Amino acid sequence: MKAVLVREFGPIGQAAIEERPTPQPAAHEVVVDLRATEVNYPDILVMEGKYQVKPPLPFSPGKAGTGVISAVGSDVSGLCVGDHVAMQSEYGTYAEQIAVNAQNCHPMPAEMPFAIGAALGLVYQTAHFALIEHAAMKPGDTVLVLGASGGVGSASVQLARALGAGCVIGGVKGARNAELARAAGCDATIDLEMDNLRDGMRDQVRAATDGHGADIVIDPVGGAVTKAALRALAWRGRLVVVGFAAGDIPTIQANYLLVKNITVSGLQWSDYRERAPVWVQRVQQEIYALWSQGKLSPQIADTLPLAQFEKALERLKEGRAHGKIILEP
Ligand SMILES: NC(=O)c1ccc[n+]([C@@H]2O[C@H](COP(=O)([O-])OP(=O)(O)OC[C@H]3O[C@@H](n4cnc5c(N)ncnc54)[C@H](OP(=O)(O)O)[C@@H]3O)[C@@H](O)[C@H]2O)c1
Repeated sequence: MKAVLVREFGPIGQAAIEERPTPQPAAHEVVVDLRATEVNYPDILVMEGKYQVKPPLPFSPGKAGTGVISAVGSDVSGLCVGDHVAMQSEYGTYAEQIAVNAQNCHPMPAEMPFAIGAALGLVYQTAHFALIEHAAMKPGDTVLVLGASGGVGSASVQLARALGAGCVIGGVKGARNAELARAAGCDATIDLEMDNLRDGMRDQVRAATDGHGADIVIDPVGGAVTKAALRALAWRGRLVVVGFAAGDIPTIQANYLLVKNITVSGLQWSDYRERAPVWVQRVQQEIYALWSQGKLSPQIADTLPLAQFEKALERLKEGRAHGKIILEP
C-alpha cells in the first residue's frame, strides 16, 4: 500500500509517498482501508518535529480519517469487515490503510459521505470537549471563538450554535475570514488585526452582548489575542486554551482570574482519545446525530488525492485553506 512517509523531522516537502507493507491487525485492532483523511494544522507541527508527541521515525502523518474495515483482530467485537467507520490515531492516516485500535473507531451513519465523516473528526471532537467538558457551556451562553474561520474555530462556532449558545462571536483575521465565520453561524465578528486589540476586543464584545461580555472563550490562536480575550470575559467566564496558531504561547496574569472569578483550562483532546475512548465514542455519535439533524455542515474547501498532501499542507500553513481540506488515499 502507498503512504506518505516522514523519514526525518523537517519541512513538509521532505516527506514522500512510498510503498509500505499491508498492515496486519493486532488482536485489539482493525485495519481500515482509508477513503478520506482529515488534514489538520497539528499534522504540520508533527512533521516539523514541533508537536508535543513525536512519533518514532519513519512514520506517516495524519490523525483522523474514514474508510472501510478490511480486517478484524481476534479480540475485536462489534466491528466487521465492510463496516464504514471514522477513526482517530496519534499518526498514520496519510496512507491507503491503517491498523488502529478498535476502541478508536466510530461506525458512521450509512448515508454519510466519507469526506464529511473525516471533516467531522478531530476538530469537532476538540470543539465539543472544549465547549462542553471544559467550558461547561449552557444554553444561552455567549461564546467568543478565536480563529473562527479555522478548523477548530469553525467547528466550535457550529457546535456552539447547534448546542444552544446565545450570541456567538468570531475573532478573525480579515474580511474573507469574517464571511466564513458568519457562514459557520457567528452573529458578529471581531477583526483580530485591529489597532489596540487589548481594549478593542473587550469593547466590541461588550457592544455585541449588551455590556455582558463573553461567558466562554475558545482559543486555538494564542499570543496577544489570548490576553485581549481574557479582558473580554464576563464574570465567571471560562477560557479554554486549545492551541497556538499565532505561534506565541501567552502568559496569563492571575489577577485577571481572581478579580472576575475567571477559569482558564487547557485542553489536550488526544488524552481523551487514549484515556477515555468510550467517552470519545459517545461524543462522536452525538456529533453524527447533530449532522443527521442538519445542525452541522462542515465546510469542505477541497478534496485532493493523497499524492497532493504537500499542496494541502502548504495551503493550510499559509491560511489559504478557507475550510477543511480532505485527502483521498
Ligand atoms: N488542544 C487540542 O487538542 C488541539 C486539537 C486540534 C488542534 N489544536 C491546535 O489548535 C490550533 C488551531 O488548529 P486548527 O486546526 O484550527 O488550525 P487552522 O485551521 O489553521 O486555523 C487556525 C486559525 O487561527 C487563525 N490565526 C492564525 N494566526 C493568527 C494570528 N496571528 N492572529 C489571529 N488569528 C490567527 C487563522 O487565521 P488565518 O487562516 O487567516 O491565518 C485560522 O483561522 C493549532 O495550534 C493546533 O495545533 C489543538
